[in-house]
Amino acid sequence: MSTQEDDEYLALDGYKLFYEMQGRKFNALNQTYMLPADDEEIERFNLFHRLVKWIFGGNSVPGPVQETLQSGDHRASVLDVGTGRGDWAVELCDMFPSVHVTGVDLVPIQYQEVPLKCLFEIWDANAHYLPYGDRHFDFVHARAVHTGIVDYPRFLREIGRILRPGGTILLIEPDLRQWPELKFKHGAGPRGWFTFWETYRSCLFASGIDVTVPQRLKRLLEETDVFEQIQELEGEIPVGFYPISEALLTVGQLQWMVYNLLLPALKPMFLALGLPETSVDQIIKDAQHDLYYSKFKLSSRLRIAYAIRRRN
Ligand SMILES: C[S@@+](CC[C@H](N)C(=O)[O-])C[C@H]1O[C@@H](n2cnc3c(N)ncnc32)[C@H](O)[C@@H]1O
Repeated sequence: MSTQEDDEYLALDGYKLFYEMQGRKFNALNQTYMLPADDEEIERFNLFHRLVKWIFGGNSVPGPVQETLQSGDHRASVLDVGTGRGDWAVELCDMFPSVHVTGVDLVPIQYQEVPLKCLFEIWDANAHYLPYGDRHFDFVHARAVHTGIVDYPRFLREIGRILRPGGTILLIEPDLRQWPELKFKHGAGPRGWFTFWETYRSCLFASGIDVTVPQRLKRLLEETDVFEQIQELEGEIPVGFYPISEALLTVGQLQWMVYNLLLPALKPMFLALGLPETSVDQIIKDAQHDLYYSKFKLSSRLRIAYAIRRRN
């Protein structure tokens, strides 16, 4: 007999949507994407969403992309891949009256009450195809999703197929490497912090994920031969409470909070990939120590690329 809680984990056709591990909830659709899909993780998405908006001066998209959406005199169709709770999708609907957004994700964790022109669907973008016709969308957005996509070049080609000629693609990915802001002497530095990130990259690599995707977005777009006018931006994101300017301080605080939630969220993934629990606990504890008490100014990077679907 299933409990009410079990029922919440099942789709209408009885397909299992979630499973639990180490007290966290995970998607049951894609074995590669091993970050949780629960309330704590949704809180992390929301902090990240606010962070990116700060970077874009309060907007959900960079200036030139915004102009494209504003200038459209017809109903624009937008796809948000890996929409999470749908913060970006709902905001875009609110901002642009003529925009209709479809958000796809592995799990049904989206807002229940949304504008009519905002639609959420369950789909694994890791699949061979996206479930939309050729030239269907005017704009495709994929943010912080590459750790769930094994063949990113194929994913870009699929986006090329479903975008209309002249349509826009916007990719945003946090770089999986970290930087200390100041140079430090050999042997010094936030070693616990770096070990944590090395472990994360190794686990992703072992799951078949290309961890270099964020720093190669432009090149990967070029290699599809489907996109033109490719632009790349790089945001240096402070981690913590040290920036002097008010705007950067807010960004630094948000990034600190995102990472504070990320550290324990990765424990199930590290364990599932065979690391002993004592080592995992120590790796996370050392990284937390560096995050909470670092003598070093930690810094991260956000990679952004946008382009136009070729017309011929
Ligand atoms: C880190 S969250 C980012 C959420 C949102 N895009 C944002 O930037 O705030 C990644 C989201 O992508 C989803 N995701 C990961 N791999 C996916 C895939 N292969 N297909 C569809 N969604 C995926 C996850 O379920 C999760 O909700």
